[in-house]
Amino acid sequence: MNELELLQQADQFARAYTALTEYRPSYPSEESIRDLDRLNEQLTQTGHSALSTLELMNTVAGSATVASNGPRYFGFVLGASLPVAAAADRLALAWDQCASSADSAPGVHALETQAAKWVLEILKLPEQSAVAFGTSATACGLSCIAAARAELLARIGWNYVEEGLVGAPDIRVVVSDVAHVTIKKALQILGFGWNNVIKAKTDEFGRIVPESLPDLDDQTILILQAGEVNTGEFDPFDPLIRMAHDAGAWVHVDGAFGLWARSTSRLSHLTNGIDAADSWTTDGHKWLNTPYDSAMAICRDPQALARVMNSDAVYSSASADSQKNLTLEFSRKARGVTVWAALRTLGRDGVARMVEQHHVQARFVAERLTAAGFEVLNRVVLNQVLVRGFDDVATQRIVAAVQASGRVWFGATVWKARPAFRISLSSFRTKERHILELIDILEAIGPRG
Ligand SMILES: Cc1ncc(COP(=O)(O)O)c(C=O)c1O
Repeated sequence: MNELELLQQADQFARAYTALTEYRPSYPSEESIRDLDRLNEQLTQTGHSALSTLELMNTVAGSATVASNGPRYFGFVLGASLPVAAAADRLALAWDQCASSADSAPGVHALETQAAKWVLEILKLPEQSAVAFGTSATACGLSCIAAARAELLARIGWNYVEEGLVGAPDIRVVVSDVAHVTIKKALQILGFGWNNVIKAKTDEFGRIVPESLPDLDDQTILILQAGEVNTGEFDPFDPLIRMAHDAGAWVHVDGAFGLWARSTSRLSHLTNGIDAADSWTTDGHKWLNTPYDSAMAICRDPQALARVMNSDAVYSSASADSQKNLTLEFSRKARGVTVWAALRTLGRDGVARMVEQHHVQARFVAERLTAAGFEVLNRVVLNQVLVRGFDDVATQRIVAAVQASGRVWFGATVWKARPAFRISLSSFRTKERHILELIDILEAIGPRG
């Protein structure tokens, strides 16, 4: 089989998979998971045919996929893949560009440059900001926090890039006491130590309470949230950022999915004041419904990010706005291409419609579940519905029963030290009939599980 025939075969498998998105079980069967043993092969000396490799992948791993690209998957905040974004990804794969800079890949550099402008426009963030297209909100958050530390140290005369941390003045970090685990991960990689990080108190909704914000100064990074993963709530940016900037602190906002609330006037009030922050992260692969890996590190001062992320070498120097000088990667895939394709195709209205639709769906689910006797724990300001059954045991039984149904999927969580479950509306594929199916299933199981 030649290269083109092989690609055609892959495309046929992919098309068949996509055509069944609607009907696929929301989670793979036990049998298909057991069947994954077939992948446990010896590495051979002479290899196999390319077709047999593709067929094995399709039949064995393909049968054990989670239908997160489908309409009845409500777990985490995964989002599906918009057709144009998935198709653009496929096309860019054929190009196999090393998207380090304009010189190394002019075409995709231009696409990413345009995507960056649109991202700032639709999210209403300062237009001079740098946009780095990275793999995840985790990696992008890490980059922004590294830039924050280097910049705060530079302001007090310490050259972090040259001198590192040996003998450096202390930089403190203040985070919400419900900060996402990946902020914890970024801070532990960067050497802040979770025990040394100061946790700010939050209210019943998971928002930092400005009155109980610890003292800040010009050696502090304050990390806020746009979209708490359980409740979808937002920190009160206006007062918090004002207090931080009055003290000379740096403010970073983790907006992995919540930042997209800024795309619609119906929800953007939730983010009032957020544009005054110093850096932000968001994902495309969550609420913009681009495929993985698609995330953005956005930094008001492009030099602050470029200084700490620079990877120029004698054989590879490029402008400060080159993606290799803004992201963690040196050789990299042009991750901004799918963002470009999604934004160009949807336009401002299309993105706003998708985000609003998920908000409306979430409120509907909350209303119907409340009427059915479930306890909805959040105000549903965004797209997340946080729910409990009659008691903790019932809550766990409900999650297990839903997951066993194979018809819809959502996951368990813990809120205020008690079990709960979280329903996320974040797939462009989810229509009214899928929501009604979810509600039917939950009504049949009932709040007592
Ligand atoms: C609020 C928040 N921040 C950060 C992340 C991490 O995003 P990623 O999985 O892209 O690293 C998530 C993922 O669920 C999130 O919900």
